[in-house]
Amino acid sequence: MSEDKREKLKEFYFQIKECMECELGKTRTNFVFGSGNSSAEIVFIGEAPGRNEDLQGKPFVGQAGKILDELLLSIGFNRSDVFIANVLKCRPPENRDPKLEEINICKKYLLEQIEIIDPKIICTMGKYSTQLILNTDTAITKLRGKVFRVENRVVLPINHPAAALYTPSRLGILKEDFQRTKMILDDYENLGANAGLGDLADKGPAVSTEPDLQKSKNEQLGLFQ
Ligand code: URA
Repeated sequence: MSEDKREKLKEFYFQIKECMECELGKTRTNFVFGSGNSSAEIVFIGEAPGRNEDLQGKPFVGQAGKILDELLLSIGFNRSDVFIANVLKCRPPENRDPKLEEINICKKYLLEQIEIIDPKIICTMGKYSTQLILNTDTAITKLRGKVFRVENRVVLPINHPAAALYTPSRLGILKEDFQRTKMILDDYENLGANAGLGDLADKGPAVSTEPDLQKSKNEQLGLFQ
């Protein structure tokens, strides 16, 4: 089963890695597919590759990545326990914000990765991934720390790790959110009707608050186990 997911993910990577559907294809050095465990129970989603990620073809390898590693370690995880991806697979020039049209083109890749990996929990880091996965334009400040359900998965919006680069006090909040994420994963089987599911029912069909949860060919081949 896990070998099956790995094969599917690998196949999908080779299918999409030359994507030129938006203008970012022209300026990227590498297509940043994502990395980690193809059978992960948690998928973390950031925004878009930055300079280091673009150069190395891997997500979160710069400063924000160091913080992410620290946060993962704080709950006893490392990168091979989880899968990490972004809303966009290619770096926006000068690290500008993703454009809506880019997100709309690229989201099918992320959504297919999620289908293949089939995680229990999606942890959205920052505004772009949170709004995409929850299909909402509600501000991240209103969503962070709540628990949502999208189809059969739990979605936990948290701040982007880069927030702690500019405001060190935010590291504490991130650490708390990571502790909660771990607790929810551990309790997954037991989550019941009043598990704190946020109420976004009016924000579109992707979000449900239904309560009952059941539980190289190239070097990029090394990206996922
Ligand atoms: N920030 C992101 O959102 N993603 C990365 O891969 C790196 C930094």
